[in-house]
Amino acid sequence: MEQTVHVDLDDRAYDVVVGPGLIAQAGQRILPFLGKRRRVAVLTDETVAALHLEHLRAGLAAEGIEMEALALPPGESTKGWPQFTRAVEWLLDKKVERNDVVIAFGGGVIGDLAGFAAAVLRRGVRFVQIPTSLLAQVDSSVGGKTGINAPQGKNLIGAFHQPTLVLADTEVLGTLEPRDFLSGYGEVVKYGLLGDADFFSWLEKNGPKLTAGDMETRVQAVARSVQMKADIVVRDETEQGDRALLNLGHTFCHALESATGYSDRLLHGEGVAIGCALAFELSARLGMCSQEDPSRVRQHLKSMNMKTDLADIPGELPDAQALLDLMAQDKKVLDGQLRFILARGIGEAFVTADVPTETVHQILQEALALRSH
Ligand code: GLY
Repeated sequence: MEQTVHVDLDDRAYDVVVGPGLIAQAGQRILPFLGKRRRVAVLTDETVAALHLEHLRAGLAAEGIEMEALALPPGESTKGWPQFTRAVEWLLDKKVERNDVVIAFGGGVIGDLAGFAAAVLRRGVRFVQIPTSLLAQVDSSVGGKTGINAPQGKNLIGAFHQPTLVLADTEVLGTLEPRDFLSGYGEVVKYGLLGDADFFSWLEKNGPKLTAGDMETRVQAVARSVQMKADIVVRDETEQGDRALLNLGHTFCHALESATGYSDRLLHGEGVAIGCALAFELSARLGMCSQEDPSRVRQHLKSMNMKTDLADIPGELPDAQALLDLMAQDKKVLDGQLRFILARGIGEAFVTADVPTETVHQILQEALALRSH
């Protein structure tokens, strides 16, 4: 059932292994990357630690690998200077050296923070990602973007630092809250929408099996998503061009996350799903894709009980102009121009700066108007 995706980046190449039971085998999987010392330093969060850390310890101990762990508080607010400093100083206290391996054991917050810590510690040590959320398995653990948030915005401080290995254990997905699982599924759908119409059709058929917990389906969905991400990262590791396709739905999403204060009113993957629906609406309005495409996207999201429209976000939202202003603050603004990922159809996304602001305004206004009915 296990699948391996190779991220072919010359001297920074690595494997992403996807399948059930990988944490139990962590020792044998990681051993080839260790120097003489059989020990690793693990950065995790308190929630993941309570659920899975002893399991990881046992998996490593099976090969005589000792583990020390630092569990940070869970949540997005951990991804800033104070906890980052704490993590780096802890790694130094533990005398982690150039030949040692740091393990990032958690969701996107831990993966990004631990990866960045590994990038700067002694000018760079190796790290292994063991992502425990669906979102981290299909997106943030692969591709080497690491970093933390600044008061000025999300992910503004960071480095490209590729992991040495990624172990995506699909068994841990069974302990996720259904809402967190579905949020990660927003990123899975994104891959179909941006580059693989057959995968989107497959998701339309298999989405319910996936949420119900069918392991084979989960492995296939994660592996296909990772393969798509790997292909794009290999083409454009540092986001000079094609990698921006991975941001389908994200310009809308970032504005909505900012408008909802990065709170649990809107999880990231929920914002991505709504953002994808809006990006298809915008594409259709600009005559780029057929009118049926946005309906099909929304229909799939709705059938999966996902947040699909602005009307699905609880509480107040700012008006269309304020949302547009938030979009303009997105870091994907280049030379003052807002760049969008639009689509010529399902599976055919492209990057453009050529989008009339009035049309975006109109789409947002219409979507907001539906909230009051
Ligand atoms: N999550 C977008 C990227 O890795 O480029």
